[in-house]
Amino acid sequence: MGLTEIAEIEIDILLEAIRRRYDYDFSHYARSSLKRRINGLLIKEKLDMPYQLIPRILYDEQVFNRFLSELSVTVTEMYRDPEFFLNLVESIFPVLDTYPYFKIWHAGCATGEEAYSLAILLKEAGLLNRAKIYATDYNNKSIDIAKQGLYSKENIEINKKGYSEAGGKHCLSDYYTDQYDAIKFNDELRSSITFAYHNLVKDGVFGEMNLIICRNVFIYFDNELQNNVLNLFNESTTSKGFLCLGNKETIRFSVLKNKYTPLSEGNSIYRKKD
Ligand SMILES: C[S@@+](CC[C@H](N)C(=O)[O-])C[C@H]1O[C@@H](n2cnc3c(N)ncnc32)[C@H](O)[C@@H]1O
Repeated sequence: MGLTEIAEIEIDILLEAIRRRYDYDFSHYARSSLKRRINGLLIKEKLDMPYQLIPRILYDEQVFNRFLSELSVTVTEMYRDPEFFLNLVESIFPVLDTYPYFKIWHAGCATGEEAYSLAILLKEAGLLNRAKIYATDYNNKSIDIAKQGLYSKENIEINKKGYSEAGGKHCLSDYYTDQYDAIKFNDELRSSITFAYHNLVKDGVFGEMNLIICRNVFIYFDNELQNNVLNLFNESTTSKGFLCLGNKETIRFSVLKNKYTPLSEGNSIYRKKD
C-alpha cells in the first residue's frame, strides 16, 4: 500500500473523529475538494499528514473551528450570475405575485449577499412585504456577518453592475448607507431576512417554502448527499414551488428529475410538478 492510500485511511479516520466529537459529518463531501481543503489546513497548521490533525482537532476546538472555516468555502457576491436574478424576476416573480404571502429559503447563504440581492429586487417589484425570507448556513461566522448586513466597499462597482444587469430599477446606493470603507444595508432589508444556522447534512425540513435557492453548495457534495439534500428540499417545498441551484449544478441525474420541470436549464431553475 502506498502513501496516498494510507493518507486516504487517515482522512477517513479524521472525518469519523470529527463526526463523533463535533457531530459534523463530512463523509459525503466531494472527496477531491475535501482533500484540497485538508491539505490547506495541514500547511497552515505546519503539519505533514492528516493523522496529525486527529489529536489536535479532538482536544482543541479552535483547531476544529479552523478546519470548519477551511472547509466552508464562503465565496459569494451580490448578484452572482446576474442573468439568474433576471430570470427569477421575469419568470418567478409573476407567480409569487399571485400569492397573498410566500416563503423563500436561501440554503447555504454564506455571508448573505445573495439574500440581500433578492430582497432588493422583491422590494422593487412591490413583493417584499409579502415575503418571509429565511437564509441559512452551517457556518456561524458567516451568519453573523450576514445579520449585520455590513460589507466592504471593495466590490461596490461590480455589485452595482450586477444589480443593473439583474434588472435593478433604481440605484443600489438607495439601499445602504456608507460607513467609512463599508456599506450597511438599511433596516428594512435587514429585518426582512431571518438568518439562521442550519446544517443541510443533518438538520430537518424547513417549512413550506414557495422558493428554495441553494446555489454553489452542491458542488461540494457527493451524489448521495446531493440526493439526500434534494429530498429535504422536496419535502420543504409547496406544490408547484420553485427550486434553484447554481449554474454548474443540476437535478438532471438525481432523485428529483421526474418530479420537477426545468424552467431554465442554463440557470438551473426548476418547478415542482403538481
Ligand atoms: C460557495 S458558498 C455559496 C454562497 C451563495 N449561495 C452563492 O452562490 O454565492 C457555499 C456555502 O455553502 C455552505 N455549506 C456547505 N456545507 C453546508 C451544509 N452542510 N449546510 C449548510 N451550509 C453549507 C458553506 O458554509 C458556504 O457558505
